[in-house]
Amino acid sequence: MTTDRLMVLDLLVSVLAAAAWVGAGAAAAARRPRTAAALMAGALVASPARAGSVLALAGAGWWFVQEKVTIALPLLLTASVVAAVTAGPRLLAASRAASEAGRDAARSPAVVVPLLGAGYAAAAGPVQTFLLGYPAEPGSALILLAVVAGAVLLTWRAMTPRVPLLRAATAATAVAALAGGALTFLPAATAEAATPVAATAGAVAPATAEGGHDMPGHDMSTQASAPVRPVTDLRGPSAPAPGGTVRRFTLTARTATVTLSSGRKVAAWTFDGQVPGPPITAEQGDLVEVRLRNADITEGVTLHWHGYDVPSGEDGVPGLTQEAVPPGGEFVYRFVAAQTGTYWYHTHEVSDIGVRMGLYGMLVVKPRGSATTGVDLTLPVHTFAGTTVVGDHDQPVLQEVAPGTPVRLRLVDTDNTPHRFTLAGTVYRLVAVDGTDLSGPGPLSRAGLRLPAGGRYDLAFTMPSGPVVLRVDDRTEAVRLTTAASGPGHGPRHGTGNGAGNGSATDDAPGAERTAGPTARSDHPGDVTDAEDAAAAAGWPELDLTRYGTPASTPYTSRSRFDRRFTLVLDRGLALGDGLPIYAHTINGRAYPHVATQVVAEGDLVRLTVVNRGRDTHPWHLHGHRVLVLARDGRAPTGSPLWLDTFDVRPGEVWEVAFRAANPGLWMNHCHNLSHADLGMMLHLAYEGVTTPFHGGHGG
Ligand code: C2O
Ligand code: CU
Repeated sequence: MTTDRLMVLDLLVSVLAAAAWVGAGAAAAARRPRTAAALMAGALVASPARAGSVLALAGAGWWFVQEKVTIALPLLLTASVVAAVTAGPRLLAASRAASEAGRDAARSPAVVVPLLGAGYAAAAGPVQTFLLGYPAEPGSALILLAVVAGAVLLTWRAMTPRVPLLRAATAATAVAALAGGALTFLPAATAEAATPVAATAGAVAPATAEGGHDMPGHDMSTQASAPVRPVTDLRGPSAPAPGGTVRRFTLTARTATVTLSSGRKVAAWTFDGQVPGPPITAEQGDLVEVRLRNADITEGVTLHWHGYDVPSGEDGVPGLTQEAVPPGGEFVYRFVAAQTGTYWYHTHEVSDIGVRMGLYGMLVVKPRGSATTGVDLTLPVHTFAGTTVVGDHDQPVLQEVAPGTPVRLRLVDTDNTPHRFTLAGTVYRLVAVDGTDLSGPGPLSRAGLRLPAGGRYDLAFTMPSGPVVLRVDDRTEAVRLTTAASGPGHGPRHGTGNGAGNGSATDDAPGAERTAGPTARSDHPGDVTDAEDAAAAAGWPELDLTRYGTPASTPYTSRSRFDRRFTLVLDRGLALGDGLPIYAHTINGRAYPHVATQVVAEGDLVRLTVVNRGRDTHPWHLHGHRVLVLARDGRAPTGSPLWLDTFDVRPGEVWEVAFRAANPGLWMNHCHNLSHADLGMMLHLAYEGVTTPFHGGHGG
């Protein structure tokens, strides 16, 4: 069973156990001893079963069970034993008696209180998992125990005025609650007062590295080993690389009404009045210079180069690398286009709203001197008010392409959630992910491509003689390429006879068994690439990127010696946000800005483990660095090395990635579901010695 399934199963068992205990108590109180006994029997099955489900889940890692093993399970099992021993015999006798006296006996406090108490204790488990999450800390555990004890005392007192030691028990409960509260809230409050993250002096809260040793103190102003550099000094050069040219752009952020291809108008926040913003294109080695102006975005705006490893001072993070540009202001970004491939830019100020409203555009860098041959389409997918839009098209992008023409489709997900793409009508290759070329990408057909929020896939193929259709989420037709002879209404229904695409679909797929695992349908052997069949495409299996392409050497592997290791456990829970407690998307139990900064030294080899024990998918995104995937759920990729800037950590998954700390600065490390980021799922990665003069506020 997958970890995700085990998590759901465990939750189910824990809820069942709680419901059975509470039900037994309620039935006893209602003078129904038989029902109560039956429910208690159920509870006595569900409670030990919970021990089993927790044990099974523990196989996926301590992160998934920590609070269950230390608190929920001991509480549940203890309360179950107490209830069975105290209430059990009385309840059995009462249900056998089947008399008025028996019915009255069932509602005695000696029966009802232990049963309901076990119910409260059992319910504490799921409540803890949902409200507190990982990790369970002594303070929150004490509060939880106090709540359970308080509920038991209240129930007892409601049933009889003669509760033994009521005063002492109440006092003990109150003391536990107060102590728990102090343990929970005092450290957070003092930490906030003492070390606002990346404060003016550049003192960043020291991260605790895994493996038992705390980082040495990281008060940057006293750090002798690294020279102190403000992030504002880490700017791009003013000249291109040899052979490159300077490319100048001006982008003006402003509100506008944008007209989509259908004529529909949407209110948007735009760069230059258009959505997406003007494309920024360059050749490798060029100097890109972008002047950002803000006309009327009152919230402020910045430009962040997603996936592009620019110098830190150009990274566009408000409060960290610059102040947000207010209306009437401007900021000039400069960087050398060192990486080739497909990237995008977007505002990082109130980015959840800003990006959603349209403040994004494409950044494409091609190798120097590479003449554009064939068709090269950049296809950012975005959701505007519930409508899937590709570029500014809310209808399919239609284009005629001569057979034999090389085609490249650059898919970009600018939304908060993943999109599934299918390409029908041709065999193709997934040649690049997040801007980096894959090694040995094999031919693909009949595959579903799941693109994480913020991620990019480049697809390449030679135009066949029939139509080619790109679909998003199995419903929206995003692109339809036709040859002159196979335009809408002209195309043959099934296959295209001797078309190159059809011919190669079955012959040219030796690598297909480790690609999408095609399941050839014997009823229509010729239709594997039939562009018209939308329903079939919906059933195409999802490509597993970790098994696609061929291995190649990498500068480091999971066996390398790592200088730092960090673990991020993603969850939901109550946490202190920017001032107030919120139901946050948490990292190691905390919400931004209270997540410990990860501190690295330039040159470090860093290993990052990202664990998702929640119910949401988290597209993880580190600024300024590509990461190499070492393993997902303990399994190393068997195909091409995967260099990513955004990787989807789905519920129950554990990702291990590595990067070389070779781009000094202060960087955001966050979930690219920007509403999750907004609810706390962000932290900083800071190089020793780098300081910021900015307020260190929301980070975007
Ligand atoms: Cu694409 Cu911090 O962002
Ligand atoms: Cu998330």
